[in-house]
Amino acid sequence: MGRRRRKPLPQEPVQAIIESLAHDGKGVSHNEEGKVAFISGALPDEEVLYKLTGRRRSFDSGEVVEVLRPSPDRVEPPCPHFSGCGGCSLQQMEPTAQIHFKQQTLLDNFERLGRVTAETVRPPLTGPNHSYRRKARLGVRYVPKKGGALVGFREKSSGYLTVMDSCRVLVPAVGERIGELRELINSLEQCNKIAQIEVACDDQQCLLVFRNLEPLPEGDLEKLDQFGKATHLKIYLQPKGPDTVAPLNDDHQTTLRYHLDRFDLDFQFLPTDFTQVNGAINQEMVPLAVELLALSQDDEVLDLFCGLGNFTLPIARQAAQVVGVEGEQSLVERARENAAANQIDNAHFYAVDLQDEESGGVWLNERYSKVLLDPPRSGALEIVQKMGKIRPQRIVYVSCNPATLARDADELVNNQGYRLATAGVMDMFPHTAHVESIALFIRE
Ligand SMILES: C[S@@+](CC[C@H](N)C(=O)[O-])C[C@H]1O[C@@H](n2cnc3c(N)ncnc32)[C@H](O)[C@@H]1O
Repeated sequence: MGRRRRKPLPQEPVQAIIESLAHDGKGVSHNEEGKVAFISGALPDEEVLYKLTGRRRSFDSGEVVEVLRPSPDRVEPPCPHFSGCGGCSLQQMEPTAQIHFKQQTLLDNFERLGRVTAETVRPPLTGPNHSYRRKARLGVRYVPKKGGALVGFREKSSGYLTVMDSCRVLVPAVGERIGELRELINSLEQCNKIAQIEVACDDQQCLLVFRNLEPLPEGDLEKLDQFGKATHLKIYLQPKGPDTVAPLNDDHQTTLRYHLDRFDLDFQFLPTDFTQVNGAINQEMVPLAVELLALSQDDEVLDLFCGLGNFTLPIARQAAQVVGVEGEQSLVERARENAAANQIDNAHFYAVDLQDEESGGVWLNERYSKVLLDPPRSGALEIVQKMGKIRPQRIVYVSCNPATLARDADELVNNQGYRLATAGVMDMFPHTAHVESIALFIRE
């Protein structure tokens, strides 16, 4: 049976009044029949003309072609690629308004999904709103009809890569060199055998991991080497899985490290390790989390989803003991190495899958007075349900997804006897719709 042909979308622009922003930063509007449309590039209270980019039974998708009545929060998007590139979704909105939108998203999620209200709302933690992104995965495709190699993020309205020469949110050492990277890929004999470039930067330098699907000939290796030397970028290759990441040659071999100034701690990491995307916000976020834990030298602390010890080692400086738990064995090893390198001997680490309901072990049988949680987007429900057993006085929850934070807050407040003492947003991902937040739960 042949596939049903999709009806072509009407070309006529549609007029709409934008009621609010959805969680992904798209404007929400309803037509006369009550059908909802999600419109990229729009802001609340604006009147716009938009073109349809998709039509489903229950909703339409579109993008703004003309703003008839602009919002006072509207600004000229600073990046020339903003309208097409899917890397950012809020550049048309003044940065202070962006973070207020994110704060409102957090509070709405608490009310609607969590049935909880924060007793106080912390002022947003803010930092630079461009050149902040230290980690990224740039897609690479060789598309002769689009002029050769494309390097960058996917388009807003398709799975194709955006034609772009620069990125304002990436650290400039890489963000200003997207065009040069395209030229580099174009010049390679194996130009269609590079699948992606992983970017990892530290306080001083940037490293690029080229995922090469085939071994590269000598001439291509030479070009990558020259590019790295001319730009001071360290070049690595990844011929197969993550454990095959290796420097192009000895000249590119380097160690990535960042320093947490407030605690005088040095962290080493590999380009494939999880690290917080925004170094400036991390410098503020870790002390804030430690402050909310209100640590004393008697505290026994549990740091869940601890990664390479970003919160664990600062906590160790102020508590009797800290136990860090993390799913990735390699990150646990890095955390142990980082503890040893900083002469910290009161931090212990375990590799455990915390989303496994059966997860347990010696670390769970200890008594802890305080807990820090920093889970992935899926949240931490399985472990939050065990808080009744651990019974910490305080829980500080760092979240990159307000919906799962609100769900877990519901469990803590409405089932486990905690109150939501304070919460606030942190501007970890300016110009995108991602919401990073922190919440403090105190046992009644
Ligand atoms: C948002 S990161 C936080 C890492 C660390 N706290 C930091 O600040 O760098 C979430 C961490 O959770 C880990 N993780 C993801 N799923 C997990 C699971 N099921 N069990 C344990 N750890 C997991 C990831 O490897 C990652 O290190």
